[in-house]
Amino acid sequence: MHDQPATPAAPACPHAGGAPLPPPMPELFTWEFASDPYPAYAWMREHEPVRWTELPSGVGAWLVTRYGDAREALADQRLSKNPVHHDEPEHARGRTGIPGERSAGLMTHLLNIDPPDHTRLRRLVSKAFTPRRVAEFEPRVRELTDRLIDGFAAKGEADLIHDFAFPLPIYAICDLLGVPPEDQDDLRDWAGMMIRHGKGPRGGVARSVKKIRGYLAELIHRKRLDDGDDLISGLIRASDHGEHLTEEEVVAMCFVLLFAGFETTINLIGNGTFQLLTHPGERQRLQDSLAAGETGLLATGVEELLRYDGPVELATWRYATEPLVLGGQRVAAGDPVLVVLAAADRDPERFGAPDVLDLSRRDNQHLGYGHGIHYCVGAPLARLEGQTALARLLTRLPDLRLAADPSELRWRGGLIMRGLRTLPVEFTPEG
Ligand code: HEM
Repeated sequence: MHDQPATPAAPACPHAGGAPLPPPMPELFTWEFASDPYPAYAWMREHEPVRWTELPSGVGAWLVTRYGDAREALADQRLSKNPVHHDEPEHARGRTGIPGERSAGLMTHLLNIDPPDHTRLRRLVSKAFTPRRVAEFEPRVRELTDRLIDGFAAKGEADLIHDFAFPLPIYAICDLLGVPPEDQDDLRDWAGMMIRHGKGPRGGVARSVKKIRGYLAELIHRKRLDDGDDLISGLIRASDHGEHLTEEEVVAMCFVLLFAGFETTINLIGNGTFQLLTHPGERQRLQDSLAAGETGLLATGVEELLRYDGPVELATWRYATEPLVLGGQRVAAGDPVLVVLAAADRDPERFGAPDVLDLSRRDNQHLGYGHGIHYCVGAPLARLEGQTALARLLTRLPDLRLAADPSELRWRGGLIMRGLRTLPVEFTPEG
């Protein structure tokens, strides 16, 4: 197995001339940690940058916190995404942040496979999910965004997670996939069950996943008979050297697109808005630039929000296929490795003043969308949604403010994702 971390020695007596010990590491996985994990990550980066850690599920993993090591690990082909490389106890869940995938037979998707299968599926999805398709979707995202803001703009208050950040990505991806409008509320509710009940009885989650799987299989079957211009039809048609996605593969692909892009985008809008509302100087700069009709600060600003407080705190599980050395630490074959994107993106070795939110930051090669062959397929869509959501909110509700003390807000305690449960705001009602 892995090398256990060295047991800390007793505090050195200053009179004995011993080097002072580092301050104790802040406790992980507590309520305080969920609210602000950055001090614990700073400690790990400095003192134990590749650290064996027991997770709340009882499973251990190496947590990688330095930017250089993180990039290396994300690109290292000896770290597999396929869980067969780890004999994981039954109680360990949430490898991809997608609950219930195993019970619904949805394990064979991009985030759980390696080359050459990954290369083939990735090439096929790239043929259908093109930057052009996303660019053409811009007016629709704006329309959806405005429709959701219409729903609360006259009230003077809202919970921006429930009323805005939650419905926007699910409606957007449903539209893009080609889910008929009359079915979209069902998908929204099933998807909501999955993440809202993530900590509740597993049965509810598994039932929702099965419903979504069944629905997608049936929709894909219909689209095979009568295809259109949507993404599902594009996935069915996509071919590479005569190869197509099988029916099962189209279902798993739609599922991963739906879910990899769902909670992540909720959190981009939620965390991003929260950070703007608690950094009034930066928010004002952005508001002024939007009022002047500029979009440059919006584009760099959304990237900075991803770096500063991104939606994906830890990249998904990886498993060493052979013994290797990572950041000077020996990792044994079969050991799980988790790259802490949130820690890497605040590494002072890589970013100047990493704990400062600077919306105009230029040298900003953050890892919020990952790195290497699993780099986010949906990044162009996420950027479009994040930029549109923040721009429309700040333009339509210019005096938007938090309606609670920041310390009272509750963060979801999941391992992979970082996001708020609620974001109560108030503003002068529109109209
Ligand atoms: C702000 C929003 C988003 C963030 C921060 C984000 C972040 C990420 C990250 C960090 C990864 C790599 C995970 C790893 O290597 O372990 C990833 C992969 C992926 N993302 Fe996103 N994502 C976002 C939105 C989306 C959207 C909107 C979609 C699709 C509609 C999407 C689809 C995917 C897929 C399919 C993968 C797997 C790619 C592969 O394994 O080849 N994501 N994303």
